[in-house]
Amino acid sequence: MKITIDYKNVLKFITEKEIAQNKQATLDAKKILLNKEGLGNDFLGWIEYPLNYDQEEFANIKKAAAQIRTESDVLVVIGIGGSYLGAKAVIEALKPYFPKKDDLEVIFVGNNLSSSYMQEVLDYLKDKDFSINVISKSGTTTEPAIAFRLLRNLLIKKYGSLANKRIYATTDKAKGALRTLANEEHYTTFVVPDDIGGRYSWFTAVGLLPICASGIDIDSLMEGAKEAYLECVNCEYEKNTALLYASIRNLLYKKKRLIEVLVNYEPKLLYVSEWWKQLYGESEGKDHQGLFPASLVYSTDLHSMGQYIQDGMRIMFETVLNIEKPQYDLVLEEEKNNLDGLNFLAGVNLDSVCKKAMQGTILAHVDGDVPNIILNIEKLDGFNIGYLLYFFMFACGISGYMLKVNPFNQPGVEDYKKNMFALLGKPGYEELLKTLLKRL
Ligand code: PA5
Repeated sequence: MKITIDYKNVLKFITEKEIAQNKQATLDAKKILLNKEGLGNDFLGWIEYPLNYDQEEFANIKKAAAQIRTESDVLVVIGIGGSYLGAKAVIEALKPYFPKKDDLEVIFVGNNLSSSYMQEVLDYLKDKDFSINVISKSGTTTEPAIAFRLLRNLLIKKYGSLANKRIYATTDKAKGALRTLANEEHYTTFVVPDDIGGRYSWFTAVGLLPICASGIDIDSLMEGAKEAYLECVNCEYEKNTALLYASIRNLLYKKKRLIEVLVNYEPKLLYVSEWWKQLYGESEGKDHQGLFPASLVYSTDLHSMGQYIQDGMRIMFETVLNIEKPQYDLVLEEEKNNLDGLNFLAGVNLDSVCKKAMQGTILAHVDGDVPNIILNIEKLDGFNIGYLLYFFMFACGISGYMLKVNPFNQPGVEDYKKNMFALLGKPGYEELLKTLLKRL
């Protein structure tokens, strides 16, 4: 497969025999997923989406993105959870660290309730041309709804009756306050498919409009996702990275390795890890079960959390995302006086220093009793990111079914919302408010 798995560093903790014995359970979960026989099977539209997505809508996404790039300096993406993390992950992974001055900037709003952040965004946008892509499947989520109200006011102040032409709403085809507002105000709209939940939606209009507006080629992302679908579905267990990954993390979990730490050596992948944490945390963390997904960026975190990984409680394993070929490389030159003592590295590529850090760290952590899985990704480009995100979703569906939970709902995120609504005095929550006030 395009992404390969190296699991030799888990074999001190689980055996090849156990991995072979887990084959049937993994294949059973795969069958449940593909035959749509399991819990949450009304949210499986993502599985074949890379094969059957609507080409007309795809073309409209490109058109809207081109329009945004023509008339704006900044695209403000309003959304939270699955309605923003996929786009943020792909954009951060594929755009340069320091973008060109004249390139469209994409900023993300509505994923927190910080008044400082909001005020600073409003100030920042005052003298800039901007468009808004507001994204909410339910159309009723509080954080994005508040951000949208504030930003809409600024947009109207700036552009008057032309403001609505700069608003793109991605939401349900019929339900929710955002749909009502979009219909009433004649915004350009894109639909979140009924059968695809937020954290599985990065390759629908939810993620693709902001990604395309940022200038990234969305065709190669979809090609990568399609290739991942074909390989995840068709490869036999022993060669199937998604099945082996699901199986091995399941075995480690059963051996009380309760935390999976996703590690990368490329800071551009920080938000791929954030997206991954949402995917696995919301999909598996239920019925008092599930691995706790954590993430670290090395080598920076080796100088902080590295201590805990090496020497703290033995409750975790690491999964390393190894980008095999760097986007750029730099060669260290020899210096006459060698005052910094680095001449032993003269002629060495910076990426090979990074790879040695990775190899040394893996060996040290395995010696410190931390199992290690490596996922090898050839390079950081659209195809491989599309592939990687699909691969993780497929493995997550299987992994969730192996735990016998519903990987496609998130009942646990409702509880805080009810309390917040009651405390804010939302009509309908009067009784809960009384109970909560007694406890505060
Ligand atoms: O994965 C999910 O379903 C959630 O994280 C949602 O994406 C998040 O709660 C935002 O919901 P909505 O798009 O309805 O505003």
